[in-house]
Amino acid sequence: MTEMVNIALPKGRLGEKAYALLKAAGYPCPTLEQPNRKLIFENEAAGVRYFWAKPSDVAIYVERGAADIGIVGKDILLEYSPDVYELLDLGMGKCRMAVAAPKHFREPVGDTLRVATKFPNIARAFYAGKCRDIDIIHLNGSIEIAPILGLSDVIVDIVETGTTLRENDLEVLETIVPISARLISNVASYKFKLNRIRAIRQGLEEQVNKV
Ligand code: PRP
Repeated sequence: MTEMVNIALPKGRLGEKAYALLKAAGYPCPTLEQPNRKLIFENEAAGVRYFWAKPSDVAIYVERGAADIGIVGKDILLEYSPDVYELLDLGMGKCRMAVAAPKHFREPVGDTLRVATKFPNIARAFYAGKCRDIDIIHLNGSIEIAPILGLSDVIVDIVETGTTLRENDLEVLETIVPISARLISNVASYKFKLNRIRAIRQGLEEQVNKV
């Protein structure tokens, strides 16, 4: 019997695109494609069990071994530094982590800069590199409204198309790092299921290079 590989997919558009790649690579799961609200799906013949997780939780499942491998944004890897192996850049879910502020923003010289973000560790590391004193305001979403309402001076957030910034009269001041989706593996699984995980990685890489 084929040894099962547990795969954590991020719920949403990125996860669906990642599954399409896995399917094309030879790891389909017909039950996952049916319209229902189940969260765990198995294809015994292909030796894969998929489950949908919240995107920011995928790395936790993989780090703790509840999933052998998973698909996760580089933003999550940079923010939480999970103890996992990063195996492949899938070249999808491309966006960037950036500092943004209201148009015509002038940085308060000398004063502590108030930074609203969902990514406090990334923001802290970025400003530490500039020796800039900051006050982190840790929010969970709709970060763009913080500087508009005077809660913060700037934001550190993900910019994909730039539409959210534009429509709220904000602009990018600086790009911190480019982001894309990555294939990650649990450390022990990479040892004990090496051949299977390598084959999946290889299959995905071939699909990525086709695009
Ligand atoms: C992300 C990000 C921006 C938006 C950027 O938000 O935090 O708000 O997408 O995309 P754009 O450049 O294409 O407009 P998300 O949809 O994850 O929601 P939330 O952060 O407000 O929860």
